[in-house]
Amino acid sequence: MNDTIFNDPEDRYGLPGWTYFNSDLFELEAEKLFRQHWQLVCHESDVAKIGQFITFDLVNERAVIIKGKDGVIRAFHNLCRHRGSRVVAQERGVCKSAMVCPFHGWSFNLDGSLRGVAQPRSFPELDPKQWGLKPIECEIWKGFIFIRFKSGHQPSIGKLMSPYEKLVSDQQLEKLSSCKPPSISEVWPVNWKAMRDVDNEAYHVPMAHPGLQDLYGKDYKDYGTIGDTNLNIGTFNPTPSSRWSVKLYRKMVDNLPEPLASLPKAWIYITIFPNQVISMYPDSVIFYQDIPVSVKKSHQRYAVYARPNEDRVTRLARKLSGRIDEITAIEDMQLMQWSYEAMRSSAFDGLMLSDLESGVGQYHSWLKKRLPVMAQPNEPIRI
Ligand code: FES
Ligand SMILES: [Fe+2]
Repeated sequence: MNDTIFNDPEDRYGLPGWTYFNSDLFELEAEKLFRQHWQLVCHESDVAKIGQFITFDLVNERAVIIKGKDGVIRAFHNLCRHRGSRVVAQERGVCKSAMVCPFHGWSFNLDGSLRGVAQPRSFPELDPKQWGLKPIECEIWKGFIFIRFKSGHQPSIGKLMSPYEKLVSDQQLEKLSSCKPPSISEVWPVNWKAMRDVDNEAYHVPMAHPGLQDLYGKDYKDYGTIGDTNLNIGTFNPTPSSRWSVKLYRKMVDNLPEPLASLPKAWIYITIFPNQVISMYPDSVIFYQDIPVSVKKSHQRYAVYARPNEDRVTRLARKLSGRIDEITAIEDMQLMQWSYEAMRSSAFDGLMLSDLESGVGQYHSWLKKRLPVMAQPNEPIRI
């Protein structure tokens, strides 16, 4: 075994099982890992029109991202300053000139300032700025809109993603258009880290995902952790595939119009810790994100984007890559549930990670650095 692959030889054994079930730790993760880290909400194309908005919920926080009359995209807490109702109830939509709270009808301008209240004479004078929606830090990287509920140790998203400037330079990320806006899956009965674990390695691909194995299994490479990110590239296998969907997909990718034809024949994944992945395919770009609901429940959020001037072949190729992705997700669901349940068993005494699962070990090591309590082998009485 080569223990230089793991930052710490202990990382080969994974996180202790208690870290997947402890409610105090979940609260700590919510504060330190989720509120204080950048979260990808959507792409500029999801809020292209004036007044177009998208909402985003995460660990008791609620955000609304909306395009103002001045064309600026802003993020606010989706929390009415009167009594805390959601100001915008839907997942996405367009507010013509104001956001109107469904509870008592307070209205807010698209720049977040208070526009008016119902029965104003029943209130003292309210300053529109002071009583406007509370802003949330918001930054756009290559068209992708990130927010952060609370500031933390992370640098700007631009700095965080700077190692990938060259890698994404031909991907036309700023020009994407939304073809499946971010939506959320049903609740999965696992801790969010169990979802990340199954996604952070490709050792299971030959056994668990025959479609992916056919597509790129032999030529998948984990480039390791860079700061709060990780890069993996699955270059398409040169050998012919026996599966119709993969065979057809690779044929279509060979026939994409320029400049898509010049993109790498590969699926490129950039993971942004703690919980999200941007995947660049020759036919489309997607992102997915694991959203903790409670210590034992999580969602996955997922969106698909198209590059400009795509033709019919590109659209069909995108359908096929979506199908391969969907089958992979279904295959993973059962596996993450079994490994999650195991951590509660009296027989569970840690993992034994292969060199090919170093992505899991490196991610656990990153988590332990952020929250050192996770390194404790036994569950603390109180965190
Ligand atoms: S809570 Fe929004 S108007 Fe009352
Ligand atoms: Fe998988």
